[in-house]
Amino acid sequence: MKKNTHFLLLMISVNLVLVHDVMAQPGTQAGITIVPKPLYLEQRSGNFVLDNETRILVSGEDRDLTAIGNQLADELEKLVGIRPDVGVAASPHAKNSIFLGLETDTLGDEGYRLTVSADRVSARGSKPAGVFYATQSILQLLPTAHGGAATALPAVEIADKPRFGWRGLMLDVGRYFYSVEYIKKYIDYLAMHKMNTFHWHLTEDHGWRIEIKKYPRLTSVGAWRAGTQFACGDRVDHTPHGGFYTQDQVREIVAYAQARYVTVVPEIEMPGHTYAALVAYPELSCTGEPAEMLINWGIQEDIYCGGKEEVFVFLENVLSEVAALFPSEFIHIGGDEAPKKRWEACSHCQKRIQDEGLEDEHELQSYFITRIERFLRTKGKRIIGWDEILEGGLAPNAAVMSWRGIEGGIEAARMHHPVVMTPHTHMYFDYYQGEPYLEPFAIGGYLPLQKVYGYEPIPDELSKEEANFILGVQGNVWAEYIHSPDYADYMTFPRVAALAEVAWTERRLKDWDDFIRRMEAQYVRYEQRGIKYAQSAFNVLYDVRRDAVGSGATVSLSTHTFQPDIRYTVDGTEPTASATSYEKPFAIAAPCTVKAATFKNGIRINKVSSYSLIGSER
Ligand code: ACM
Ligand code: ZN
Repeated sequence: MKKNTHFLLLMISVNLVLVHDVMAQPGTQAGITIVPKPLYLEQRSGNFVLDNETRILVSGEDRDLTAIGNQLADELEKLVGIRPDVGVAASPHAKNSIFLGLETDTLGDEGYRLTVSADRVSARGSKPAGVFYATQSILQLLPTAHGGAATALPAVEIADKPRFGWRGLMLDVGRYFYSVEYIKKYIDYLAMHKMNTFHWHLTEDHGWRIEIKKYPRLTSVGAWRAGTQFACGDRVDHTPHGGFYTQDQVREIVAYAQARYVTVVPEIEMPGHTYAALVAYPELSCTGEPAEMLINWGIQEDIYCGGKEEVFVFLENVLSEVAALFPSEFIHIGGDEAPKKRWEACSHCQKRIQDEGLEDEHELQSYFITRIERFLRTKGKRIIGWDEILEGGLAPNAAVMSWRGIEGGIEAARMHHPVVMTPHTHMYFDYYQGEPYLEPFAIGGYLPLQKVYGYEPIPDELSKEEANFILGVQGNVWAEYIHSPDYADYMTFPRVAALAEVAWTERRLKDWDDFIRRMEAQYVRYEQRGIKYAQSAFNVLYDVRRDAVGSGATVSLSTHTFQPDIRYTVDGTEPTASATSYEKPFAIAAPCTVKAATFKNGIRINKVSSYSLIGSER
């Protein structure tokens, strides 16, 4: 990578915001709505007005920065209809320009400084990733007011960097296949939130989604099923479903993600969640039995045999192809939910336990994962697995994804292994995000926006030194009941915005009221980009305090949105824009049904929620 040292020196002397200044955060910035919230942001007076003469100027002839400049030009064209020319900067001080440059700095590999003044915009990072994030902030400085392509960026000084290095989101394409086109959009949306890790859950009981040249039946057989359970109670459709990514498509997606500073971490599950592979190659199971692809969800007892040598030969061959496709340091090897029933009854597995001097089937799982860890190390890779890989002993160098709670993460960090926190209570985006009666069918759980936002990835139990092993945080979108791109959008957004702020923003700067203020603009950005986000946060919630005596109660209404226009009725009718405006808690007497909804510009924007107070029993 070429750098222009002349500019470098200039910028250090002219534009440096000293690091100790970064500790100060001026108060709430009216009108500035960057999500996730930057480390340091100071609003100045004036604006930079983008017009047809504005140019994007890149320091030196840096290829990465030029690519970032072109992406910024593309986005500006889409959003405001102006596509600045991208060229090489003769000086970092050219008027009416957006300058992209590298500078030696203390804000880390992903940090950036962004200065917007009336004359020019200057975005610098010590690495291209930081400059890329600066351009995402530039896009979020554009006014989002409807009606006309406003192009005035407020003058600001920003110095920003992420709190955590792993800012992840997982999409389960095993349960439901998402197209290459959708995966690319998903990566765009991650980048927009300054998220940097796409965990691609590529293999499952119900579908194997990545082409492996040596084992074509994985995708000719294992990627297709005759139907899909679409709701609880074994409700099944009989529409064939399937699909897989060719290796060319995988390379295309990895390159697409790289250009957006997103690392794609592939997950190849083992020893459980492997039924599709076992249908394709039954000899890899203990019994040799699996015959047909499944259409109902549930944990399967059939898993890879832990005794047969051919299973390890198979996995090494598969992982060799996977390792060659993904530049990621980490490969996810699953490890979760592997029942040991088959292993207990299998002569191959029992012989392995004896030969290796293992205590039990849990130690056999540890042997299994440790063997794979050792193999992947020869490919220059590290493994990460779900927290069950702690059982029976954690493989050396393994990283742990703590999902059943935070205990696995605490245990691994205390052993000085890297950890990604993704407890289902706060990070499973397949859970309901509003009251279930107002939501489309979901797998269960209750995870509204505010609960995601409130998550703190560093457990109190850890010492400062142990806390350094928390790499970061991730949300997971499991797809048992998420069967379309629109619904995946719905479950992902806006919760990923709360996750992004958990992952990026310093804990002391997090502020729920300021977050929901900025989210008002983020919703408009979602609309501009065609993201089918959930409006569940606008649903009206009830806090009902019953009187100590009698049959009355006091009702408070709220939402997870900023200054909502809530209208309600107490006579059971649907609230309209002219219904009573909610100003403060009000009294009701049983029997009474309250109905409430949120309005914007006189239009109801979400579902009507209701609460019924019934009298006490006689
Ligand atoms: C998991 O949810 N089974 C990782
Ligand atoms: Zn076996």
